[in-house]
Amino acid sequence: MNSARRPLISGNWKMHHHHLEALHCVEKLAFRLSKEDYARVDVSVHPPFTDMRTVQTFILAEKNVGLLLGAQHCHAADKGAFTGEVSVSMLAKLDVRYVIAGHSERRQFFGETDAGVNEKTKAILKAAMTPIVCVGETLEEREADQAVARVSTQLAAGLAGLKADAVGSLVVAYEPIWAIGTGRTATADDAQAMCSAIRSMVTAEFGPEAGLRVRIQYGGSAKAANASELLSQSDVDGLLVGGASLDADEFAKIVQAARF
Ligand code: PGA
Repeated sequence: MNSARRPLISGNWKMHHHHLEALHCVEKLAFRLSKEDYARVDVSVHPPFTDMRTVQTFILAEKNVGLLLGAQHCHAADKGAFTGEVSVSMLAKLDVRYVIAGHSERRQFFGETDAGVNEKTKAILKAAMTPIVCVGETLEEREADQAVARVSTQLAAGLAGLKADAVGSLVVAYEPIWAIGTGRTATADDAQAMCSAIRSMVTAEFGPEAGLRVRIQYGGSAKAANASELLSQSDVDGLLVGGASLDADEFAKIVQAARF
């Protein structure tokens, strides 16, 4: 981390926790986290859509809880005949602050494309929320020394047409696909090398201020045991946590690892 940027720890619950479990989880999290944690770290939780109103109501009711609500996905259009989808304006109305765009599971299982990620990123920004734009290479690409090229293509396409100021305000999550849900974390050096490469790409394309401001998360089997080491890297500004965010005790420890 670098003191110029505020750390962001995000819990991506994926398709876990129904709304009662969600309430239990945020209650426990609220008990574990303090004002000092929220003062130093931005903490977002990204529950399934069916839980969002419950989590929002809890956050609104508890004045000392600084949790920020996040979404895992959205549709770029404001409204329309898109069965099963949820629009950015619906999310904004629920006080959602962060929306994940282009998670590798969405790309892999639901056919999301780089162009679609770009469209969503623009829509999220237009609705005054912060996109978390996900990029990451497969194991084959890494082994063929294609990791930087793959991430660079995804990043260029995902951020195409954005203004430098908007790019500086958003979040990029580097999530090597081979590390997601596999228990196989990238080493802190690997994470730093790619996060630094991403910052250089942003600087080259959008200028030094955007490069300095953009926050870059690492994701892929992040947990309490490896959080401090990952976060000690100068270009790793936070973590996008899947499995380990489902347990409030574990997730709170990860948040607290970002407090130094
Ligand atoms: P994981 O997932 O922490 O379970 O590996 C990370 C993610 O997909 O965001």
